[in-house]
Amino acid sequence: MPSPSAPDFSPEFTSELAELLAWRRDVRHFRKEPIGEDRVAELLAVAQLAPSVGNSQPWRFVRVRSAALRETLAGHADTEKAAAAAAMPDAERRSKYAALKLHGIREAPEVIAVFCDDATTTGFGLGAATMPETRAYSVVLAIHTLWLAARARGLGLGWVSIVEPGFVTDLLDVPASWRFIALLCLGHPLEPDVIPELERRGWQPRLDGSSNVSER
Ligand SMILES: Cc1cc2nc3c(=O)[nH]c(=O)nc-3n(C[C@H](O)[C@H](O)[C@H](O)COP(=O)(O)O)c2cc1C
Repeated sequence: MPSPSAPDFSPEFTSELAELLAWRRDVRHFRKEPIGEDRVAELLAVAQLAPSVGNSQPWRFVRVRSAALRETLAGHADTEKAAAAAAMPDAERRSKYAALKLHGIREAPEVIAVFCDDATTTGFGLGAATMPETRAYSVVLAIHTLWLAARARGLGLGWVSIVEPGFVTDLLDVPASWRFIALLCLGHPLEPDVIPELERRGWQPRLDGSSNVSER
């Protein structure tokens, strides 16, 4: 079948895309209203348009539908957060950290654990022989695609990493070759904002990115 001709993206689209990138936020505060099964399916399909090493498509999405599993994950994240706070030597930082909300696992209408199948034979190992970690990078790209696609539809996504990978892997009973990458919360954001929440709460502002670019 012939490919459709490539679209010519307009300057208006480019400027809207820039706005989308600026307004993509990590979201921890959600409204409770559900997303809708069609939308979830659509988003998970769009996420899989991401590039992957050798076209291996190693992403594996596990939708957490059980209320008991969700509560266990939320409790675990709370415990890990408290442990991280206790380990902070600076008292001021510690109390600032304790006041941050770092997950919306209890409220988000959709919680998704994302894994990388390190044993996939899809793609016949191309590229992964020298850099096996590129499979995990591919999964991260799928997550970012999901992040943007969600925001373009008025939804917000929060990445939760304050969990022990082994704990999540055991709890969700996934195959041994699946490496835990992320726990995602998805839903309607309570209050969209163009400024990252950690900047608004005085934890860490965005830096001037020019200092991250060098030349050789
Ligand atoms: C790999 C990764 C892990 C993250 N883990 C957490 C987390 O556990 N809890 C949290 O509140 N935010 C987490 N975040 C979100 C970051 O705090 C957020 O991206 C950063 O503050 C910039 O804000 P923005 O995404 O709204 O631009 C994570 C982001 C990434 C990319």
